[in-house]
Amino acid sequence: ETFRYADLKTTLAEPHQLRLKPDVSELKFGQIFTDHMLKAFYHEALGGWQKPEIIPFENISLHPAAKVLHYAVELFEGLKAFRGVDGRVRVFRPDMNMHRMNLSAKTSGLPTFDSEEMLKCLKRLIAIDQEWVPHAEGSSLYIRPTLIGIDGTLGVAQSESALMFTILCPVGNYFSSGSDAVSLLADPTYARAWPGGCGDRKVGSNYGPTIRVQKKASKRGLQQVLWLYGDDHQVTEVGTMNIFMFYINEDGEKELVTPPLNGLILPGVTRASIIQMAQEWGDFRVVQRTITMNEIVLLLKENRLLEMFGSGTACIVSPIASISYLGNLLRIPTNEHSAPLFKKIRDQLYAIQYGHIKHPWGVLVDQ
Ligand code: COI
Repeated sequence: ETFRYADLKTTLAEPHQLRLKPDVSELKFGQIFTDHMLKAFYHEALGGWQKPEIIPFENISLHPAAKVLHYAVELFEGLKAFRGVDGRVRVFRPDMNMHRMNLSAKTSGLPTFDSEEMLKCLKRLIAIDQEWVPHAEGSSLYIRPTLIGIDGTLGVAQSESALMFTILCPVGNYFSSGSDAVSLLADPTYARAWPGGCGDRKVGSNYGPTIRVQKKASKRGLQQVLWLYGDDHQVTEVGTMNIFMFYINEDGEKELVTPPLNGLILPGVTRASIIQMAQEWGDFRVVQRTITMNEIVLLLKENRLLEMFGSGTACIVSPIASISYLGNLLRIPTNEHSAPLFKKIRDQLYAIQYGHIKHPWGVLVDQ
């Protein structure tokens, strides 16, 4: 059961409702939104999904008891549309986000839908607001599909009504400091996710509780949190990103490693793409396994740690410069190589996203 593109009703914004498009140089992440949004209601009592609509961007109105407001019955996605060198707009691997959105919906007791129908609606929304896709490489249109439980009842129970909406915002670089390598706070007091939890789903309740820890890092002059788990201080994620380490193994060979999808890790689209790309290059081994802080300390001591970087839709690839851990500042030499791997990866992703090369991961919006 799903909403369908064929039923999509579009109401275009009146000229007086159109918003001013900012200069790309002023773009900060998630602060300015486009002229239109997509929405579809789900009502169990009315047979499920209602017809989807594209409407002028507007506030939403909720019952004060709506479950999303009390028990975080919600999920979201993040993907991007890029203005290619040929002027055409491409979305990066949107099928992966649609698939993950349905996984999150199942976990949250929210209604699932047909990924392809949703994608067609999304493409239409982007096409309508396509002039909002910035004409500058490095910037893009961030797409935020969201699904919330809206029953106006306080029982901690499945929501019988839901609202899917999608909003769009033009974005520059996620980090205001541009491509600078980031400093991290690794404090084993905190955990982002745990076995049996929902750390592998894109639900809002994974993000709200991280803000206090992020604030602690900021107070110490550090930019992001390195999320640890367990007595052995396993490295799980960094900020809102997956994490990669490039190092020289005991046989003297280079290896790219990232934590496995063991329930504690968000299955990132950029993560999966990096793994696949690196495997296809075949220049070094690519391994999914647990990384611990002890290992990082040892590798640094033996000069075998080459690079660490985060990966995510918002930042694409973000190099790591240092980790503050148990009173020590570990310096990571990510930015100290002449041709670092993180740059090669970033360049390859950019090439696909901005249409420098033809690639199935870059999905045209107007096709
Ligand atoms: C990403 O790295 O793409 C994110 O998940 C960022 C978002 C939570 C703001």
